[in-house]
Amino acid sequence: MDIFQVFRERRSIRKYKDTPVEREKIEQILDAARLAPSWKNMQCWRFLVLTDADMRAKVLDAFPDDNPGKKAIATAPAVIVVCGNPAESEVENGIDYFVADVSIAFEHLCLAAFALGLGTCWMGWYDEKKIKRTLGIPDGIRIVGITPLGYPDQEPKPRPRKQLSEISYFNQWQ
Ligand SMILES: Cc1cc2nc3c(=O)[nH]c(=O)nc-3n(C[C@H](O)[C@H](O)[C@H](O)COP(=O)(O)O)c2cc1C
Repeated sequence: MDIFQVFRERRSIRKYKDTPVEREKIEQILDAARLAPSWKNMQCWRFLVLTDADMRAKVLDAFPDDNPGKKAIATAPAVIVVCGNPAESEVENGIDYFVADVSIAFEHLCLAAFALGLGTCWMGWYDEKKIKRTLGIPDGIRIVGITPLGYPDQEPKPRPRKQLSEISYFNQWQ
């Protein structure tokens, strides 16, 4: 699939089929994340894949009921907790680059999933402490995002985007 088609057609998926995701596909997706660029190539990302229904049910409680993606966490056949180790990245100009490192890897993961016919939905609204406690994630590790993963059971319309003219400048600001 052409990469520009992937950019155009990927959507956040919040409704999934029961069909389990093949282990090889999960590994292919994680491998795409592994290839992301990172601060000084320190690769601070870590991925915790939950395919066990009990484990998935345990994290559900940490999502507010009005998070539109909560149901997807309950029903998708897999959930990936995307983490970073800030000690394996650095802060420059006040920017915590572990967030950038992990975010790039996370987006590689989402785009690779789409190219394989799978859906994802980046979720950032949850109680991080609760999830870390539930899953036994070590103190120093941060959760940057969580996504359900599975075969889509919906075809959402594209969400609007700002025009290029609103967000880009050439040679000088504005
Ligand atoms: C950092 C981040 C956090 C997000 N958190 C949530 C979330 O907690 N729940 C949810 O349903 N969607 C969440 N989203 C998905 C966005 O709502 C979605 O990407 C946006 O509306 C654009 O839709 P699209 O991904 O289908 O293009 C998040 C996306 C990002 C990038």
